[in-house]
Amino acid sequence: MTRQMHFAAFIQGVGAAQGVWKSPRTDAAAAMTLNHWVEVAQIAEAACFDAFFLADALTIGDQIAADSTERPDPVVVLGALAGFTQRIGLIGTSSTTYNEPFTVARQFATLDHLTNGRAGWNIVTTAIQAAAGNFGSDPLPAHQDRYERAEEFVQVVVGLWECWQEDAIVADVASGTYGDLSRIRPLDHVGKFFQVKGPLPVRRSPQGRLALSQAGSSGPGMRLGARWADLTFTTQFDIESSRAFVRETRSLATSFGRPSNALKVLPGIMPIVGATTAEARELANEFASYVDIDKIHAFLSHHLGGVDLSGLDPDEPFPDITDQLPANASVSRPRLYIQTALREKLTVRQLAQRMAMSLGHRPVIGTADEVAQDLITWFDAEAADGFVVIAADLPQGLRDFAEHVVPRLQDRGYFRRKYSGSTLREHLAS
Ligand SMILES: Cc1cc2nc3c(=O)[nH]c(=O)nc-3n(C[C@H](O)[C@H](O)[C@H](O)COP(=O)(O)O)c2cc1C
Repeated sequence: MTRQMHFAAFIQGVGAAQGVWKSPRTDAAAAMTLNHWVEVAQIAEAACFDAFFLADALTIGDQIAADSTERPDPVVVLGALAGFTQRIGLIGTSSTTYNEPFTVARQFATLDHLTNGRAGWNIVTTAIQAAAGNFGSDPLPAHQDRYERAEEFVQVVVGLWECWQEDAIVADVASGTYGDLSRIRPLDHVGKFFQVKGPLPVRRSPQGRLALSQAGSSGPGMRLGARWADLTFTTQFDIESSRAFVRETRSLATSFGRPSNALKVLPGIMPIVGATTAEARELANEFASYVDIDKIHAFLSHHLGGVDLSGLDPDEPFPDITDQLPANASVSRPRLYIQTALREKLTVRQLAQRMAMSLGHRPVIGTADEVAQDLITWFDAEAADGFVVIAADLPQGLRDFAEHVVPRLQDRGYFRRKYSGSTLREHLAS
């Protein structure tokens, strides 16, 4: 089989199901420890995942009252993991709205050196208003402006990575030359948002141009990904919409002169695996029981771009509040949730419970065979090139997936049994 699935393990606290830190399966005290991240990364690496992925939001908001959503600096954590992993890619989120491109280019190039070519940058524009408060008093810039800045930001980062030729460090004792200046050029970028002279103060990293992922699914987000990224992370609930998303992503990639398969689309899933279907459902119900219904307004509001929901009755059908969504918040996800609530006639409580339990992603609940079959169905229908695996609880939920679902995908020829390449870019290409 030529086309193979790709997996990224999404890591948040002791699991992404809201309140799962209450479960005896987790250890809340471990959430911010190196041992925890090492254990999780090694589980994903033993299963030959393409990448370990650490998201970031630059804020915790009120969610921390109910949820293990602490946000360590991804680059620092990934730098530590470099020494405890050998093959798996290490992807971290870094915002194009609240950083300088020189800093990001340098951090990720350094990470690429530390990992011998396993680093990846998840490009986000930051859609959460609360993050703006940490970077001055201005409100979050408008959606369109954030993406305009992101385009130029990525161009500068990639340009900086390419200033050094591979053979620029000659370290020639006879002539006393360490670096050959004729092989290191400046960038001399002057644009609307940035003026960056370059070059980076480190030699070209093993991947040169690092693997990039992009996580916005609005029009501008898709275009940014289609132009630059190797991976697109997305939220999709039904197979037909996801097929349409994949088709559109591929056609956008070709419009930028890239091969249609240059960009892999990975929707997020939350797998909940049991020895029997009933056992998996029981586990899902247990996770659902940890959702704190008293905090649903804050939770829903956070996922709907900060819109005020305090007037809503939890047991009334969720109303169409599309018009009230803040213009500069995330575009794709709130719309997806509202459409789902309206289509399935969910109450406010039901929508909140569903989103809280699975971090707003698609739960896949069943035996290992059932979960594997579900993923194969999506993959064969070209509704996905792989998945972001968002474990409900960590590390056990990831271990269940790695030890029971992955072998079934390997037996059926859908997933690698061992790594064939050594860099993240090579994993994504295979
Ligand atoms: C699997 C996945 C991971 C994501 N990780 C992040 C992240 O780490 N930080 C972030 O700000 N946004 C992240 N996002 C994207 C946001 O959820 C949000 O959709 C996006 O920032 C809004 O872009 P849009 O307006 O183009 O839809 C992620 C999305 C997905 C599907």
